[in-house]
Amino acid sequence: MGIENYIGQARDQFIRKSLMSDEFLDFMKENMLPIDTLMANYHCAIMEIETKFNVLNKQFSLQYDRNPIESIKVRVKSMESILKKVRRKNIPLTLESIEQNIRDIAGVRVVCSFQDDIYLLADCLLNQDDITLIEIKDYIKNPKPGGYRSLHLIVEVPIFLQSEKKQMKVEVQLRTIAMDFWASLEHKLRYKKNIPPEEASLLAKELIECAEISSSLDMRMEKIRNRITKAALTTAKQQ
Ligand code: GTP
Ligand code: MG
Repeated sequence: MGIENYIGQARDQFIRKSLMSDEFLDFMKENMLPIDTLMANYHCAIMEIETKFNVLNKQFSLQYDRNPIESIKVRVKSMESILKKVRRKNIPLTLESIEQNIRDIAGVRVVCSFQDDIYLLADCLLNQDDITLIEIKDYIKNPKPGGYRSLHLIVEVPIFLQSEKKQMKVEVQLRTIAMDFWASLEHKLRYKKNIPPEEASLLAKELIECAEISSSLDMRMEKIRNRITKAALTTAKQQ
């Protein structure tokens, strides 16, 4: 038997005896349970927040005949991304510390029709008595240097388990369709590598300009909406 064959068989036996032993599988199961539970809790928190926005959208559509929300996207951060953030931010590798320090494990992105809908929905959410605001970042009033615009809220929402209530952190990003369009494309372009520095700097400027154009489009659309509302009101009064 050749040496390579021998090593291969020995490795196989080692894996079967140690990594696939009942003890090891029990160990994995025991340690995976708290992680799975935490992730399930984030899923529940997302459902709570998503429902709150759906309820608000429903109410606006019945009361004012308009839907401020175009779409809602939700995601739980992957384990790989969580661990990368743990490494990048030097966060202690315990579940408590991950829960405390990583505030965007649960993410809800609300895409709105108009810019003023963003603030309206954020106010409605924050006025609910089970929601606690942890942090607000207004990248609409203060866009990021690269051009990114959105309103970010870190909130805590309770989830009700069998015998306890647990406060879970959720990152809520509110943006218009135009802001979402820009952010989605910019995100795709950002990962393109091997661009000479001079060209990269020109492209960065180009992206900032696109963000400004898209922001002015948002404002024009909002003005059109306001004029339509006003005109419809005037006509209604005259009738
Ligand atoms: P993270 O560690 O990346 O979560 O940063 P942070 O905690 O400082 O949060 P920040 O307010 O910078 O934004 C977090 C999220 O907003 C990101 O995960 C993206 O979804 C989005 N975001 C922020 N900046 C940009 C940007 O320049 N471009 C795009 N496309 N998205 C952005
Ligand atoms: Mg993030």
